[in-house]
Amino acid sequence: MSDHLIIFDTTLRDGEQSPGASMTREEKLRIARQLERMRVDVIEAGFPAASNGDFESVRSIAEAIRESTVCGLARANENDIRRAGEAIRPAALGRIHTFIATSPIHMEKKLRMSPDEVVAQAVKAIGWAREYTDDIEFSAEDAGRSEIDFLCRIFEEVIKAGATTINVPDTVGYNVPEQLANTIRNLIERVPNSDKVVWSVHCHNDLGLAVANSLASVLAGARQVECTINGLGERAGNASLEENVMAVRTRRDVFPCDTRIDTTQIVPASKLVSGVTGFPVQPNKAIVGANAFSHESGIHQDGVLKHRETYEIMRAEDVGWGANKLVLGKHSGRNAFRTRLQEIGIVIESEDHLNHAFARFKELADKKHEIFDEDLNALMSDEIVTPEQEHFRLVSSRFLSETGEPPEAELTIAAGGTESHVKSTGSGPVDATFRAIESVAQSGTELLLYSVNAITTGTDAQGEVTVRLARDGKVVNGQGADTDIIVASAKAYLNALNKLHGNMERLNPQV
Ligand code: KIV
Ligand code: ZN
Repeated sequence: MSDHLIIFDTTLRDGEQSPGASMTREEKLRIARQLERMRVDVIEAGFPAASNGDFESVRSIAEAIRESTVCGLARANENDIRRAGEAIRPAALGRIHTFIATSPIHMEKKLRMSPDEVVAQAVKAIGWAREYTDDIEFSAEDAGRSEIDFLCRIFEEVIKAGATTINVPDTVGYNVPEQLANTIRNLIERVPNSDKVVWSVHCHNDLGLAVANSLASVLAGARQVECTINGLGERAGNASLEENVMAVRTRRDVFPCDTRIDTTQIVPASKLVSGVTGFPVQPNKAIVGANAFSHESGIHQDGVLKHRETYEIMRAEDVGWGANKLVLGKHSGRNAFRTRLQEIGIVIESEDHLNHAFARFKELADKKHEIFDEDLNALMSDEIVTPEQEHFRLVSSRFLSETGEPPEAELTIAAGGTESHVKSTGSGPVDATFRAIESVAQSGTELLLYSVNAITTGTDAQGEVTVRLARDGKVVNGQGADTDIIVASAKAYLNALNKLHGNMERLNPQV
């Protein structure tokens, strides 16, 4: 019998702390539903005290998710903990995750608190959290650079106070595998009642060691790993969920534990997170990179054709590659459309919104005969802005690209109730399109990112464009998909403007 390894996903909290990765409530909900479908044990949904928007996101996720524990982060102070407690109240399974720094440098320079004060504050924090839930996680921020004796002392006290999961974060990604494993082993041996709690690790990737550190800690006795889809996260990111999960599963001979993750949902989750945040996945990224399972050299191809296991240690289909099955076509009806959306975690609340989305689906099905789940996700990503919230809309477009001539975009754009016909040139067709839109919107925004990805294979695939705009410290990501990538670009830009117009942007929790 192997132990259960708890997968704690923090894409929606630590992942969202990567500059530019902020998400709207609806986007977070969609990702949370995918995480639940993937059977993640704990979803860290956000930092409720950071802003009202974050509070609302955590609360909506707590209302919607039934199978995974929903967790809210809180510093070790009364206000943060009460906000987290209120936000997770509707959850079927709710957790409060509270933290305070324990390294000498953080206590002295950042908190300006003595070690005694830090212990007392941590114990008080657990007391406040217990008013809301019995499922309480305590993190010693910067544990990777903290003194082991002090860690033993604070963990002993918070366990006495009622903490049920003890997390050891390598906040600045400083540890190496043997060192973090030793820390975990030492803590489990020395802290009284260590067998009454779950030991957890939370590793950052500054030295590219986050997954190695997490796995070494698992071998030393940790039974929860904190991670994110695609390794998204602060600076160089967090340990990647897919790498941790697949390492444990593929090397059952090495690890004395297993997860309950439905691994076929990994690639869809990766694509969803990449689409929403606009952070592309590098082609050679383990498990979810486009080349992770392709064999280029003749020797490898020959070997795989003769016997797959000569060069493959995992099966692409086990992590969700190639699972993009034909789901709908041009003859599919409204009900089939709604049902498939629900199956992939997209809930449309109003009938008007459903009709609007269905009309767009029909337009797409006319252009592209086979519609996959990826197409539906992309189609619905610009539907995050509902028809009522859609201030700017692309009515029609014409583009001209000719050798020796400056590219030209001619657009009709509806802004509020008024339609404007505008024309612009630019250094390329995308530039011309954005200039034409700006001649109407005059948004005063700065373009931070423009990225295009093919959603499925083949030349009739839709291109999914992400545009990131910033204004007055507010950042929004807009998405647009179309078989014509210039049209997709226009849609993405307008989608971002609509989010700014409807105040759907989020301030990064750290701002
Ligand atoms: O990296 C870190 O220390 C954190 C804590 C809040 C767990 O994200
Ligand atoms: Zn972190």
